[in-house]
This record gives sequence, C-alpha cells and structure tokens, in this order.
Amino acid sequence: MAYQYANRQEAFLAKLKGKTGKISDKTHEEHLKLYTGYVNKTNAILKELEELSKVLDPANPAHANQIFSTIRSLKVDFTFAIGGVINHEIYFSILGGAGGPATGQVAELIDKSFGGFEAYKKDLKATGLAARGWVWTGYDPGTGLLFNYLGDAQNTYPVWGVKPILALDTYEHAYYADFYTNRGAYLDEFMQHVDWAEVNRLLADKGSR
Ligand SMILES: [Fe+2]
Repeated sequence: MAYQYANRQEAFLAKLKGKTGKISDKTHEEHLKLYTGYVNKTNAILKELEELSKVLDPANPAHANQIFSTIRSLKVDFTFAIGGVINHEIYFSILGGAGGPATGQVAELIDKSFGGFEAYKKDLKATGLAARGWVWTGYDPGTGLLFNYLGDAQNTYPVWGVKPILALDTYEHAYYADFYTNRGAYLDEFMQHVDWAEVNRLLADKGSR
C-alpha cells in the first residue's frame, strides 16, 4: 500500500488564525490551498509508482528512459511535490508565535553560528530578498552549525544530512496580497511571528520530518 501523506490544512488554519499580524488569515487560507495541491499530487504520484511497480520492466524504454519515460516523469516531479509538502509544513508550523529573539537551544546555536541574533536576522532577511522561492535555516550535523540556505524552487537546495528547522516562503503568493511588492516588509513581519518553541522542537526532533 503506497504511503499517503495527511493533509494538515485545517490544523494550520486553526493555529495561525489571527496570530501573524499583517500576514493575513486570507493569505494563509489561499496559501494552504496550494499546500493541499502538493499533498494531493504527492499521494497521487506514490499511487502511480505503486501501480507501475507491478509491471515495471527496466528494459522497456517507455518505463525507464532518460529522455522521456513514466518513471522519469513520476520521480522528477515527486521531488517537487513532496518538497511542496515539507517546505510548507515547516513554514506554517513555525509561524504564529511571539517572534522576538530566539530561545532555547536554537538561540545558543544562532550565537555560535552567526555571532548573535541580530546578525542571524540580517543574514536571513538578505537571503530572503535574494531568493526566488525558499529560504531555510538548517542545522548541519557535520559542522554543528546553522546556515541560512537559499533555494529557488520546491526541490532545491538539498544538502544531504541538513535538518531544516525554519522555512521562509518568499514566493509572491506568500505576501503579495498584504504587502504588494514590498518583500522586505513581509520578511520583517515574518520575524515578528516566529514560534521559537516550534523551531526548537524541530531541532530536537529525531524524526526525519
Ligand atoms: Fe508557498
């Protein structure tokens, strides 16, 4: 039986209602429709892969071919679909808090990695202005440090082993209705509503998501 991801749209809507200041409830409502699309497509691809596995023949170029084939289409688009699920789940999870300086173990890691919260905030805002899609604060167990990664799509920028603990959506659908083209104002507002307890929970979480 193919794994099927749960749609957490309603839980996110309930958690965020009235809790993100100038990033409006309506924006989250519309944004979560896009998230739902990613959940549905991820689950559809997993079902298609399960069906394909029953007849899969690597010698059949219709199934497996680098120019065009069923498994190529499904697997390339799978990374985009599941990226859309995971990125948005982190984004909506870590919003709705009191913002302000980080707390707990994340605060210690921010000091160690950036030299202080203000320097972290500056780097995150600059990275957010430079991105065409996603920005993540990730913990790299190899260096023991945090880093603000920049991605331009749902399925970039993977660094093996890095655990994302904060996701920042810079696509226009995340802010245009509330801030028009003033992305900087959106980034400032985002920082006012980070839920640091949740960021700490993601850092401590031993699971993969
Ligand atoms: Fe988004």
